[in-house]
Amino acid sequence: MKYNFDKVIDRRNTASEKYCFFKEQGLPEDTLPMWVADMDFETVPEVKERLKELADHGIYGYTGRTADYYSAVTGWFQKRFGWKTDRKWVISTPGVVFALAAAVRAFTRPGDSVLIQQPVYYPFKNVIERNGRKVINNPLVLKDGTYRMDLEDMEEKIRENNVKLFLLCSPHNPVGRVWTRKELTAAAEICSRYQVIVAADEIHCDFVRPGFVHTPYGTLPEELVKKSVICTAPSKTFNLAGLQASNIIIPDETLRRQFLGELNACASFGAGMFGLEACRIAYETGEEWLEELLLYLEGNYQYVRNFLKEQLPGIRLIQPEGTYLIWMDFRSLGYSDEQLKEKMRYEAKLWLDEGTMFGAEGSGFMRMNIAAPRSTIEEAMRRLKAAFSQEQPG
Ligand SMILES: Cc1ncc(COP(=O)(O)O)c(C=O)c1O
Repeated sequence: MKYNFDKVIDRRNTASEKYCFFKEQGLPEDTLPMWVADMDFETVPEVKERLKELADHGIYGYTGRTADYYSAVTGWFQKRFGWKTDRKWVISTPGVVFALAAAVRAFTRPGDSVLIQQPVYYPFKNVIERNGRKVINNPLVLKDGTYRMDLEDMEEKIRENNVKLFLLCSPHNPVGRVWTRKELTAAAEICSRYQVIVAADEIHCDFVRPGFVHTPYGTLPEELVKKSVICTAPSKTFNLAGLQASNIIIPDETLRRQFLGELNACASFGAGMFGLEACRIAYETGEEWLEELLLYLEGNYQYVRNFLKEQLPGIRLIQPEGTYLIWMDFRSLGYSDEQLKEKMRYEAKLWLDEGTMFGAEGSGFMRMNIAAPRSTIEEAMRRLKAAFSQEQPG
């Protein structure tokens, strides 16, 4: 390996959300945090070097998007997914969650219904409710260890509630599904039939396990893509979340104008100087680094899977197809959600995301971030075993 993902980097005293706020959470200082979705790896070396150069320059004035910036963004999606985009379609926002909230405001009115598929990344629900819109849940269905969309329920809910917008998570956080072209097309056809706009959050698109393929929503048939807003960012892929740079891709001119109108209304001009430059350099130079990272993450996943199977069979792992988040099923151990949270935090001393944060369907589950050096993952497994080894499936 050219890059050293085994390197453990001290993130304390960096104001990291993951490592620096234990006290505020009432957690012991020796807690191991494996919750929020950023990685414990250094970014692409070329990005780090370029940011140092920029910092050295000493002038941090207003910064715009250059032709090279747009080429880097459109080039990435063309190269990685065969998705041909136009620079005119690319809009910059300070984050994907920001863009989802903007989509809610741009494409719906207060009181309108917006569809989501729980268990799902919790800000989806928040951006709907906090803008005075109504959450309509079309829960994913877990059958034979795999989550699927319930398309019948989806159509019924869209029709009955006059749904205007669907927030799609693709690949899906937390259940780890990488939706197939067939699944996406079927959902898109339903949305198209009822004129539902789709905001596809594809922030995890670069994390796909061997054997699975991410289908950008933008590569579906043109008439389906027309009513879509595709949210992308280099932040998960290259560990740049603190730089707040996202690219929202809207092929349709009318939707794009509506979305821009919303951004203009709150005077949002997208990312800052460091975010834009990090995005450009990462997309231009980061492919080899990403390929090695994916191999390393696959090793982490295999380690966790084998460990749980051999040492903690009461904890069931939902096989992820993408993302670096794993969705663990503790239901056979018979704890209430509160008991499970207490045990995880104060016995195992692991800070994970509790399943119920993602909706009631997450009851009995926990989400763990495995984008960390192997030694951290090993320590997490040791802690899990110490807390749960006596437990037998009930
Ligand atoms: C599905 C999904 N969307 C969006 C985000 C956050 O994006 P941003 O930091 O750009 O708002 C995350 C982070 O975990 C995520 O998992």
